[in-house]
Amino acid sequence: MTRPFVFCHMMTALDGKISGEYMRTPEASVAGRVFYDLAFGDDPYYRHQGWLSGRVTTDDNFTHHREPVLDEDAAPVPEGDFVAVPDSEKYYVSVDPSGRLGWESPDLTYQTTHAHVLEVLTGKASNAYKAFLRRLGISYVIAGDDELNVALLLDKLRMLFGIRTLMLGGGGVLNWSFIQAGLCDELSVVIAPVADGSSDSPALFETAGRTSNDPHHFELQTAELKNGGSVWLRYTLNDRTTKGTST
Ligand SMILES: NC(=O)c1ccc[n+]([C@@H]2O[C@H](COP(=O)([O-])OP(=O)(O)OC[C@H]3O[C@@H](n4cnc5c(N)ncnc54)[C@H](OP(=O)(O)O)[C@@H]3O)[C@@H](O)[C@H]2O)c1
Repeated sequence: MTRPFVFCHMMTALDGKISGEYMRTPEASVAGRVFYDLAFGDDPYYRHQGWLSGRVTTDDNFTHHREPVLDEDAAPVPEGDFVAVPDSEKYYVSVDPSGRLGWESPDLTYQTTHAHVLEVLTGKASNAYKAFLRRLGISYVIAGDDELNVALLLDKLRMLFGIRTLMLGGGGVLNWSFIQAGLCDELSVVIAPVADGSSDSPALFETAGRTSNDPHHFELQTAELKNGGSVWLRYTLNDRTTKGTST
């Protein structure tokens, strides 16, 4: 395999929502700790070299909807990818197809985890945005012309940055595009015993009009009761869609 092993790791409410008012409850707080320890703790179950997030998730958690400070007169940047740090212990891989995120630093800290930022762009990103990333020392790869090419992205993460295991960390739009592309190997969900009933919050998987809603199938590997009544489920992908079948 030339691509990384990909596991999708998420915390949800009982109704499969990945954000909303329920996040402020004690139940979500305990489940959030379980979630963190499994993939980022001192002795984690999953050991990975990077985790991947969609543009909305990054804006909500790290760049806080800031505008990037662009120089529209920047000299043309060299074609292709930019590898600022080829050997970071951990990468934060940020899917930002058009180049919209207002980074201020090439590194970030998520609780106790430090990581180098690695932006994933498409041909839609401007020269000014790529010059902005170079100025900050933020690595980037181009994965696709108009649309994100997930397979190409994974190859580049392995070849250019040595990422052997990658956590797919949401949100729902990004998660579903990997499932649809058949490029997610394992699903790990920590379910908190709480829900808020919101119709507006994103769920674990979202097509958002980008991908099809053909069902995909999962095979349960383990189910464990964790702290505070949370439940940890691990599935492998049973790569068989029901498209075109009647059962
Ligand atoms: N509970 C958890 O474990 C957990 C984990 C992560 C996130 N979250 C929460 O989830 C919420 C965000 O989820 P979300 O589903 O709304 O958004 P998301 O997946 O974080 O971001 C969606 C955006 O990412 C880009 N993108 C993702 N997949 C793409 C694809 N296949 N092709 C092209 N572009 C793609 C697009 O950016 P552009 O719009 O720029 O084109 C798209 O609009 C946040 O509130 C976050 O805090 C929860």
